[in-house]
Amino acid sequence: MRRAKIVGLGAYAPKRILTNKDLERMVQTSDEWIVQRTGIRERHIVDESEATSDLAVRAAQQALERAGVEPEEVDFIVVGTTCGDMAFPSTANLVQHRLGCRTAGSADIYAACTGSIYSLSIGAQYIQTGKYRTVLAIGAEALSRISDFTDRSTCILFGDAAGAAVLRPSDDASGILDTDLYSDGQYWDLLYQPAGGSRLPASHETVEQRLHYAKMKGSEVFKVAVRMVGESAVRILERNGFKPEDVDLFIPHQANLRIIEAAMKRLGFPMDRVVVNIDRYGNTGSASVYVALEEAWSLGRVRPGDLLLLAAFGGGLTWGAALIRW
Ligand code: UT7
Repeated sequence: MRRAKIVGLGAYAPKRILTNKDLERMVQTSDEWIVQRTGIRERHIVDESEATSDLAVRAAQQALERAGVEPEEVDFIVVGTTCGDMAFPSTANLVQHRLGCRTAGSADIYAACTGSIYSLSIGAQYIQTGKYRTVLAIGAEALSRISDFTDRSTCILFGDAAGAAVLRPSDDASGILDTDLYSDGQYWDLLYQPAGGSRLPASHETVEQRLHYAKMKGSEVFKVAVRMVGESAVRILERNGFKPEDVDLFIPHQANLRIIEAAMKRLGFPMDRVVVNIDRYGNTGSASVYVALEEAWSLGRVRPGDLLLLAAFGGGLTWGAALIRW
């Protein structure tokens, strides 16, 4: 089977920045608490005119330009998102039109914060099987839209951003070596948006009870996340004959600096080989791994031949990992 390769990366975050000091004026919290418990200092958030697809389009345009690929060449678009522009059509569908990708197939994938690994993995499969030559894999979120700015346990965490990768067949040893996707729905109520779906359609009551915002049992997610990130990383490395010390750069989902540090400690992996940008973005869900990878690449931290390990977890619960030879 042929291998899929990332030939272009792009990222975009809205201009507006919400700092911890800003949040101090909105809920009972402090910059000190947020930094100590999460590592977050500020996050980008959309303004009234922006939605998830706007961020996705900007990231995708940059990725296509860098790859030297025209929009008409894209065969398929997959967008990982938790808060698309609307219930339907899909955000990928809107992105397809805005980019000018002719009649490329498009679909959203709902895997909460693991949407990065899920979209990358699904995109890569189409290249590997030979079905498509050019796939656009995107993670995009406007999580501030489903954040309850009266709930200090959640609103301090989330940020808005998008990241994109152009995938093409590899003609050498580089590319996406392997991906793993997992889920366990018994944990669905640890992190979810109660209303707005077919279980609890929008009504005056759901709005009054603030049920259109994300609800989370943070400390329970924390414990499971540390275990999942560690286990999926070990499993994908072992299956491909690698050890943690073979990995040049670890790019984890940016949910909480303490989760990243605890998972790396479990793995015995040094923090100087871990990409961390949560301080400036917060948790950007499906976008976070793409945004962190793009930033590491832009800063020259990703060199040809490097072995990259990507891992994420999120509501559902979902989790997964990807192994890339750059
Ligand atoms: O992509 C996946 C998305 N979700 C996650 O990754 C979430 C994972 N979980 C976390 O990141 C952490 O659990 C949180 C950052 C959400 C919370 O940190 P924690 O250390 O687990 O705190 P806690 O929930 O156990 O709360 C400790 C205290 C509580 O006060 P009491 O009951 O001890 O008096 C909270 O009410 O901290 C309080 N608290 C806050 N205080 C100031 C909760 N949020 C805040 C806040 N500012 N923003």
